Amino acid sequence: MKITVVGAGNVGATCADVIAHKELANEVVLVDIKENFAEGKALDIWQTAPVNMYDTRLRGSTNDYSKTAGSDVVVITSGLPRKPGMSRDDLISTNAAIVKSVTEQVVKYSPDTIIIVVSNPLDVMTYCAYLTAKIDPSRVFGMAGVLDTARYRAFLAEALNCSPKDIQAVLMGGHGDTMVPLPRYTTVGGIPVTELIDSKALDAIVDRTKKGGGEIVNLLGTSAWYAPGAAAAQMVEAIVRDQKRIFPVCAWLQGEYGLNNIYMGAPVKLGRKGIEQIIELKLNTAEMQLVNDSAKAVKEVMSVLDGMNTTTA
Ligand code: NAI
Ligand code: 2OP
Repeated sequence: MKITVVGAGNVGATCADVIAHKELANEVVLVDIKENFAEGKALDIWQTAPVNMYDTRLRGSTNDYSKTAGSDVVVITSGLPRKPGMSRDDLISTNAAIVKSVTEQVVKYSPDTIIIVVSNPLDVMTYCAYLTAKIDPSRVFGMAGVLDTARYRAFLAEALNCSPKDIQAVLMGGHGDTMVPLPRYTTVGGIPVTELIDSKALDAIVDRTKKGGGEIVNLLGTSAWYAPGAAAAQMVEAIVRDQKRIFPVCAWLQGEYGLNNIYMGAPVKLGRKGIEQIIELKLNTAEMQLVNDSAKAVKEVMSVLDGMNTTTA
């Protein structure tokens, strides 16, 4: 297996480190536009191999995509992160140009690859990669739901004083403040979460989850990387090990949930072929309303990208 991570910054380097540590591939290539940056990060991570006891070889590249040729999976993290006071959508024009140019290079050298987009604004950058790559949407999708549910599960584990391992959850919608954590589909060791926590405390956790990215931006002055990097690596693992795991993933919806031509978070089955199934939950009216509201917000940003006309040239 060969995996490329584009963008050797906070999220990309963390993702490459987790992929290597878990030995998900023989080779991980880190690419960055900043001279020698990916080479330095790859060398540093590679030097953890004797300590962390793995064989995965890491290599860095300054914008030379020939080194990424034949990648099975490519994770795109290149782009600017969010700064305090900045919404994910503020990033659109800069990051769309970056994601477009990166995707062109990626598919040129790895036409059969699976692409996982991480750059923000996530749903729209995934759409940008899809328009550019011109490959089946089962092979182009975005990472957000694994991170957002991880935050939700971590907050619940704290509130319930229980192991985060026992908390299972689904979340839908865009990667933004309109995301829709779904308490009705949240269990703790198989027990519906609503039997273990009062509705006021649960509502507060749902609200904190929606603002989870911003909470870290306000603390650090830049966006999170440990959890995002690990979340993207978990998606890589599901693919390369053909695990058929069910995760919320930013996927191209064509009629599912009554939504069309939109990249948005929904539960999917991830395996060696990428998205192998999009799962349709039987949402109630209130849940569907929240999903529709989120879809409306995502569509608005997608139409900004369409208006920029950067992806069709
Ligand atoms: P960072 O600034 O630490 O790293 C970004 C890297 O991309 C930099 O090293 C930069 O040189 C590189 N880069 C810029 N243009 C490039 C190009 N054309 N080709 C190759 N490399 C290029 O930022 P960080 O924290 O790693 O975040 C990366 C992206 O991920 C941001 O857009 C951020 O908002 C997003 N993000 C998304 C999350 C999600 O849940 N989907 C979670 C966390 C971050
Ligand atoms: C996050 O959720 C900002 O998307 C980034 O941490």
